[in-house]
Amino acid sequence: ADINLQEVHDTLVSIAFEAGRMIMAANTSEITTGEKMNSADIVTETDQAVERLVSTRVQTKYPSYLFVGEETYVAGTTRITSAPTFIVDPIDGTTNFVHGFPHACISLGFAVDRSPSVGVVYNPFLDVLYTGIRGRGSYMQRNASLEQGQGQGPKQKLPLTGSPPLGNLSTTLVAVEWGSQRDGENFEVKARTFRKLTASQENGGSMVHSLRSLGSAALNICATAAGQVDLYWEGGCYAWDVAAGWCILSEAGGKMVSGSPPDREGEGWDPALDSRVYLAVRGASSGQDEIVREFW
Ligand code: IPD
Repeated sequence: ADINLQEVHDTLVSIAFEAGRMIMAANTSEITTGEKMNSADIVTETDQAVERLVSTRVQTKYPSYLFVGEETYVAGTTRITSAPTFIVDPIDGTTNFVHGFPHACISLGFAVDRSPSVGVVYNPFLDVLYTGIRGRGSYMQRNASLEQGQGQGPKQKLPLTGSPPLGNLSTTLVAVEWGSQRDGENFEVKARTFRKLTASQENGGSMVHSLRSLGSAALNICATAAGQVDLYWEGGCYAWDVAAGWCILSEAGGKMVSGSPPDREGEGWDPALDSRVYLAVRGASSGQDEIVREFW
């Protein structure tokens, strides 16, 4: 049967606003946190409650579509297949949420044939909404939850500013994250990468303009789609961190490369088998492939 991506998009936007109200209603002084892998890998009751809300809403409306969510994912069991699948992070930026740093979002992705087809990313703290539908472009909207005529911003097409050539790595602003894994090879790869990006060229580095680490993978990808940063690299994302943003980024002319070396564009969807390394590059008239090569 034909899948109505516009309808899926509209449904996800209204769920995102409902989830946003739930996140904003949570009293941060009373947040109970739990640990997953270690003390830097935090989950709250709000993450779980928002995921229940989202899964109930989408499964009521689309009972035949599959649902994968961060809080109900089972390592080694959950797979992303070619079936229409909602891929959801109820709060992306949980650490920010817990600390009251206003940079967290609800990330609602929808994939068909393992291809990111709808993306809705909503930051309820700033009331900024990012959306994308495959083949129909992606948009950013401020004061998104307000009514039209009551202060709701216009839908701005992404990327926000034109797309000058990317130049080379040394002229880029790069979003990165430490993530929660703080040991082993993964930690070493991150530390080496950050050092290489920031060291002066005399020291064998690329010396990019700077690094930014704002604490939400999905919002980093949206910032890349908007053209506010040039690149975003992370050495430990899951599918729900990237699914929604991926659609928004590609519709903005950007590129998501997963795996290392970058030979698996458009793949990388199995949360169990995926290398979990992602490089997002903003839309540009030229230079994307060169910058990917330079990065690796
Ligand atoms: C995390 C955030 C963080 C990133 C991690 C993600 P969560 O998501 O996006 O910035 O570094 O890799 O897992 O746990 O807040 O949903």
